[in-house]
Amino acid sequence: MPKAAVKLVLSALILAAWATLGAGERHGAIAQYAEPIAPLRAIEGLDPRMVRLGERLFNDPRLSRDDTISCAFCHRLASGGVDLLPRSLGIAGREGVINAPTVFNAALNFVQFWDGRADTLEEQVAGPIHNPVEMDSDWPSVVAKLSGDPSYREPFREIWPNRGIAAETIASAIAEFERSLITVDSPFDRWLQGDEDAISAEAKEGYRLFKSHGCATCHQGANVGGNLYQYMGVMGDYFADRGDITQADMGRYNITGDEEDRHLFKVPSLRMAPHTSPYFHDGSAKDLADAIATMARYQLGHTVSAAETELIIAFLATLAGDHHSAAPAPASR
Ligand code: HEC
Ligand code: HEC
Repeated sequence: MPKAAVKLVLSALILAAWATLGAGERHGAIAQYAEPIAPLRAIEGLDPRMVRLGERLFNDPRLSRDDTISCAFCHRLASGGVDLLPRSLGIAGREGVINAPTVFNAALNFVQFWDGRADTLEEQVAGPIHNPVEMDSDWPSVVAKLSGDPSYREPFREIWPNRGIAAETIASAIAEFERSLITVDSPFDRWLQGDEDAISAEAKEGYRLFKSHGCATCHQGANVGGNLYQYMGVMGDYFADRGDITQADMGRYNITGDEEDRHLFKVPSLRMAPHTSPYFHDGSAKDLADAIATMARYQLGHTVSAAETELIIAFLATLAGDHHSAAPAPASR
């Protein structure tokens, strides 16, 4: 389908959702199944030894060329899993080309990276390690450095007796740790499951607006996003208006070379949104009010009033819960 037609169909869908969802949404035992958002569930069957090892690797700067930058340097777990910068700063203060998404709940994304170029968390790990503006290293160097540390040999041998310290085992452990970072039990999820008092009246109204405005046509599912690609600028040319178009703005086109994928991005999860400013792949929206105004204009083609924006922000604030408790107990060293 040509891009214009896709956009047309998409706008029709959003308008239809906007028209039909509106008032009269009821929260109840049966209606729950019709909700576009489902509660988050912890991923079961994780290997605790791998999670502990992965956490240690995630925090280990030796994954970078000059031993200065760990994964956690940019994905700070105490700051929503991000660095709170428009674009990340990597090794030697080099500026990246795109905003860092959170690692919380990333395990639930259907693909990794804004443009979906990694299918799995395991595959994703190699990206930052090799990226010259991030960790600027390579697997042989990382494996050599970690192999020189006796305290790593035992845990690797225990889990992988025949493989030990290798690119794949390092990536597996980090991915297993990331699978433990699911932010369960948020106020919103408790409300979804029937606890009427778990969120405020304002948040409930914000959720109703989130659906009636059509936000949930793109941000939906347990992760409130992360399960489909959409164009940035469905209802207006965001990039022409913003100016200074970069390679990163091309989105999925950079991977497929397909004209129809220009400006196509993975819809980001909004689960941690209150904690992860600034927003968008270009880090251009400084706060949620700013992001919502841009979404309204370029994804929906209408305006969301200041009062409605406040209510939607009150709703978004209920999505994360206490994310600090999501990380497992510190590894014993
Ligand atoms: C210099 C900062 C930096 C470092 C170091 C870094 N990341 Fe990232 N991370 C980013 C940026 C920026 C992106 C987005 C890149 C893109 O989409 O093209 C990203 C994307 C991701 C994603 C995808 C999330 C999503 O929603 O698509 C995961 C998972 C992730 N990083 C995990 C890691 C792990 C694991 C490490 C360590 C091996 C790491 N990162 C090191 C900045 C960093
Ligand atoms: C047509 C699909 C679509 C609709 C409708 C939509 N969004 Fe988005 N949303 C996206 C995409 C795609 C992005 C990523 C854009 C980018 O980074 O350039 C995004 C990004 C965001 C972000 C920034 C997240 C982050 O971590 O950077 C927020 C917040 C957001 N949307 C909220 C909303 C709200 C609130 C609404 C309704 C008023 C809405 N969106 C409607 C597709 C949509």
